[in-house]
Amino acid sequence: MSGVLEIEGGRPLAGEITVRGAKNFVSKAMVAALLGESPSVLSNVPKIRDVEIVADLLRAHGVFVDHDQAAGTITMNPSGVGAAKSADIITHAGSSRIPILFCGPLLHRLGEAFIPDLGGCNIGGRPIDFHLEALRRFGAEVAKEPDGMRLRAPKRLQGMQMELEFPSVGATEQLLLTAVLAEGITELRGAAVEPEILDLVAVLQQMGAIITLETDRTYRIEGVESLRGYRHFALPDRIEAASWAGAALATGGDITVLGARQLDLTAYLNYFRKVGGRFDVTDHGIRFWHPGGELRSIVVETAVHPGFMTDWQQPFVVALTQATGLSIIHETVYEKRFGFTKALRRMGAQIQLYRECLGSERWCRFGRRNYEHSAVISGPTPLHGADIRVPDLRGGFSHLIAALAAEGRSSVSGIGLIDRGYEHFTDKLDSLGARYWRR
Ligand code: UD1
Repeated sequence: MSGVLEIEGGRPLAGEITVRGAKNFVSKAMVAALLGESPSVLSNVPKIRDVEIVADLLRAHGVFVDHDQAAGTITMNPSGVGAAKSADIITHAGSSRIPILFCGPLLHRLGEAFIPDLGGCNIGGRPIDFHLEALRRFGAEVAKEPDGMRLRAPKRLQGMQMELEFPSVGATEQLLLTAVLAEGITELRGAAVEPEILDLVAVLQQMGAIITLETDRTYRIEGVESLRGYRHFALPDRIEAASWAGAALATGGDITVLGARQLDLTAYLNYFRKVGGRFDVTDHGIRFWHPGGELRSIVVETAVHPGFMTDWQQPFVVALTQATGLSIIHETVYEKRFGFTKALRRMGAQIQLYRECLGSERWCRFGRRNYEHSAVISGPTPLHGADIRVPDLRGGFSHLIAALAAEGRSSVSGIGLIDRGYEHFTDKLDSLGARYWRR
């Protein structure tokens, strides 16, 4: 990925920015539009690359997509849906993980689907075994081809029962997007309940689906004969909000994130407060600031919702380099999510990685599998500028924060990757008073 930012750090970021719809919801709601027999309209859509990728894939399948970027509205009309040319699909190979979610909707609409090889951040093996098992149980035939995966539905997909070994977000969405039009009842146990998934359930319900969520992570979906389009305002991006909150803490700053919603961030806010950050919830967003003085060290374990989200971890780690004492992070969602700490160490952070579970060993999948998935951060350590390369989306944003917090000049390359999930982030840096130059 191209793009280099030269950053002159060591200045508090202060000001107001706005977050719009959640990347991890908007892309899925766009896929859901394929299931309707009439147009759907999604608003609060951010201008990020993942949205463009899904729009291109929809267009390749004959869906009319009109993206009004200024208004943040996407209109999708699936009445002309048809098979895509393989070349139009393959061009998106490796760009995102969303294409796997096209399987169920395309099988329902066309009886077949071709899915490119997937991309997404390199933070672990990221298998799709749960997705494939689910699709096969619905009755789909799956065959691997050189450039992707070909699926066929010899007859209408059938409701089924499945229990996930781990509450995977993507697999839960796959099940929901497929079960809504499958014949009969589908029961999914051990499922994920992230706010973005519940917003997807809201969209599907508007479309005519019947989905019940029990208290024990079980979804029960009664398949219907057809669905219509929806109108929906996307929930805000709680990952982006937490990223800017981390930037406020790490730089000793004061950032108001307009559009951020407390309800989606309660676990994050608890830790933000425990470490010594302050926040104020208003009708329009949340103000996050560093009150001055010392930050406190803390122990955090990432988990599925309602726990501390894995995507909040990286910007938070940068702030923890400024906390007094030893902080511990036990990462239980992805096995390789500490790659970004190498650059932080070069900038002066003291971070030690461990293969052991420094937290609940009982349910962590990585402790006995030799992955460095626990981190101990010793602080406070002043950060100094360095030449760094963005490794993945969230890790990349944390590098940006580290460079903004560090004394001196840093060169951050590969920043194109950050556009995948952070809308207008350089404009936002401008309004927060950051000093940087594009090279
Ligand atoms: C989504 C989010 C990502 C977030 C993650 C966890 C999007 C576009 N991305 O990713 O930002 O970090 O949820 O909240 O919404 N797994 C399997 N087999 C599978 C599927 C998953 O073993 O078939 C494992 C993964 O390797 C990982 C864990 O389950 O260890 C969680 O993955 P999952 O929740 O599926 O993440 P994504 O949906 O890819």
